[in-house]
Amino acid sequence: MKITIIGTGYVGLVTGACLAELGNDVFCLDVDQKKIDLLNSGGIPIHEPGLDEVVARNRAAGRLQFSTDVAASVAHGEVQFIAVGTPPDEDGSADLQYVLAAARNIGKHMTGFKVVVDKSTVPVGTADRVGAALRTELDARGERLAFSVASNPEFLKEGAAVEDFMRPDRIVIGCDSTPEGDRARELLRKLYAPFNRNRERTHWMDVRSSEFTKYAANAMLATRISFMNELANLADQVGVDIEAVRHGIGSDPRIGHSFLYAGAGYGGSCFPKDVQALERTARQYDQDLLILRAVEQVNDKQKQVLGRKVVKRFGEDLSGKHFAVWGLAFKPNTDDMREAPARVLLKQLLDGGASVAVYDPVAMTEAKRVLELDLNAGELARVRFADSPMDTLTDAEALVIVTEWKAFRSPDFDKIKAALKQAVIFDGRNLFEPEVMAEAGFEYHGIGRSILTRD
Ligand code: UDX
Repeated sequence: MKITIIGTGYVGLVTGACLAELGNDVFCLDVDQKKIDLLNSGGIPIHEPGLDEVVARNRAAGRLQFSTDVAASVAHGEVQFIAVGTPPDEDGSADLQYVLAAARNIGKHMTGFKVVVDKSTVPVGTADRVGAALRTELDARGERLAFSVASNPEFLKEGAAVEDFMRPDRIVIGCDSTPEGDRARELLRKLYAPFNRNRERTHWMDVRSSEFTKYAANAMLATRISFMNELANLADQVGVDIEAVRHGIGSDPRIGHSFLYAGAGYGGSCFPKDVQALERTARQYDQDLLILRAVEQVNDKQKQVLGRKVVKRFGEDLSGKHFAVWGLAFKPNTDDMREAPARVLLKQLLDGGASVAVYDPVAMTEAKRVLELDLNAGELARVRFADSPMDTLTDAEALVIVTEWKAFRSPDFDKIKAALKQAVIFDGRNLFEPEVMAEAGFEYHGIGRSILTRD
């Protein structure tokens, strides 16, 4: 099938590349000429495992093209995916200007039936607004062409997006119950048929429920994390091991094991933004989503927990003290620093007067960029970007781990001990067993694992 993807950001690029991998003829549009030039010269603007190969293979096969040509993009696909950004505006609502601009462009240039699919995470009712924007453009041209707006949210995890797309656990599609909606349903059924061969994975529903499903999923996952983080903080005080508790409750199939890891707080482009946007939607209907408000508050506090532990151990005044920090990205296998807990930790340590040496396997360039925005010149001067995990340790009072990269999971503890001034580790991702660390001679501070260190 001929498909157009509007927006070559994270979601658009993965969707476009993977749909091409299934044999479709995909046209990816972006307004950013630099990004298109980069993609056309074989580069990839984001770090996502496996994506470069899929893009290269499908470009070479002529199934995947990148362009800034709006008219050509509208002419190309009967199915037009809108996958542009929906950043939060000042009050936390999703900013729909890019989504609506994409809809207007389709209305300006279309000459036949189109299915417009909202792939971006958008509040309930957006499909109606997309349809209205498109209709306005058609009216201005005096055209009465048919179209249908469908919703097909993405559930891709950064770092595993290609895998998630190619092996989805579910596909959610919302279509209207109109003749145009039926046509959209048939086209999307054909497009996603390869994923439904062994088992039907598609959940068909109305458009609004589909839009809402995406927010509900992310809000539920964020809730689980904040719930465990809150319990972990209590566990720290009452001498309970949150990891034992996680196993204990996770084996109840009603609860399940996933997304129960206490840690340094959730970050990234989705959870913080989507929780806020859902709260905002509720407020528009005079409802206060009490649970989600708490989820957000707990997470804001959680991002400070690691820094607080450091201050509790080394004192409010950290001047003259040096710390090693492993992991900057908001999670492993990505260079994404959006809402990353490491940004809060670094601010705390530097505010206290400390200096730091930091390392991340892939996010160093992105970290330099965002830290220049977060920190003042004096603070920035106290940050050293190290070449390796071991290179961070010299003269450090302690090691602080913020992201659970695989490369950090089985380090040479003897070397760490020899390099650090004091054998102290603050582990924001509970990578190690407190007993093992104690035996290895470390003072170990996990999240909710104080059973061995309580006094
Ligand atoms: C998320 C959703 O998982 C995905 O379905 C949606 O499409 C986009 O948002 P992503 O933001 O890539 O994906 O990251 P995810 O792997 O879900 O992790 C989000 C955050 O939660 C990370 O900061 C992670 O460290 C944190 N997390 C996750 C925990 O703190 N504990 C856990 O148990 C799981």
